[in-house]
Amino acid sequence: MTDAGGQYRHFLDLGDAGADDVAAMINDAIDRKAARAALPKGTPDADAPLAGRVLALVFEKNSTRTRVSFDMAMRQLGGSVLFLDTTSSQLGRGETIADTARVLSRMVDGIMLRTDDHAKIEEMARHAAVPVINGLTDRSHPCQIVADLLTVIEHGKSLPGLEVAWFGDGNNVLHSILEAAGLFKFNVRVATPAGYQPDPAFVAAARAEGVAVSLTQDAAAAARGADVLVTDTWISMGQADAEEKRAAMAPYRVDAALMAQAKADALFLHCLPAHVGEEVSEDVFEGTQSVVFDEAENRIHAQKAVLLWCFGLLGT
Ligand code: CP
Ligand code: NVA
Repeated sequence: MTDAGGQYRHFLDLGDAGADDVAAMINDAIDRKAARAALPKGTPDADAPLAGRVLALVFEKNSTRTRVSFDMAMRQLGGSVLFLDTTSSQLGRGETIADTARVLSRMVDGIMLRTDDHAKIEEMARHAAVPVINGLTDRSHPCQIVADLLTVIEHGKSLPGLEVAWFGDGNNVLHSILEAAGLFKFNVRVATPAGYQPDPAFVAAARAEGVAVSLTQDAAAAARGADVLVTDTWISMGQADAEEKRAAMAPYRVDAALMAQAKADALFLHCLPAHVGEEVSEDVFEGTQSVVFDEAENRIHAQKAVLLWCFGLLGT
């Protein structure tokens, strides 16, 4: 597929890029992050590779990190963004995804969409003539995981053979971690209550790539000897806030006792926003093993690499 500047690709899930290209994104993110360390955050990178390009940020759900990091990523690459949400755009009045895709494609150079049903972003990509990027759906959150992989690597860990432990709800973020596990050959221990396990298709796909994925209801067993511990909100956007679910999740809170089961140099990750005192205790969230704010900052650096890849401008 081509846009005015050349080749373009959609990024709906990590598998759209594959292991080599995601690795190239991470390397590019490390290089660009280092190269601009002394610059004010709004100053473009020296090469400004997306100068003249505009990305539409379309949000059907709330966001802080994804909105701000895509905006800053485009500024740092020399481009700009415009923001649409369902309240103020015609999407909220029933204009179809297909028509929105076709109109935006005539007006902007790329589209980032955060929505609920993953089928909607697939529909957007089918009808768009510019790159479409998944800024989170109910099924997956691939941009988050590029940032997470970057964070883990920056903190000195190499991905193959890593033992990653997930606690709580088997949600969209976990699905993208499982996809990354298959690409980068790390193992995942998934500790969830019964009834809140991830989509079996993501588990099967990771296992088919030869990595170990264990499903357990025993949080301590999942944490034992782990290199990275990850959790997320118990109630994702769009989900019913049920007391029954919170009660089921309580044994999966990442607290100091659980961290003590892991390796001494284990990292704690959380995509944020966090509900401190629910899925993570305050001492772990604020503790020395927590890298959650590096992870949040890395959304900018990761997104820049995703954008360059989508526009065919990443040196892969
Ligand atoms: N982690 C993440 O995607 O945060 P936002 O919901 O604030 O974008
Ligand atoms: N699982 C969370 C992630 C938020 C960034 C949600 O979907 O709400």
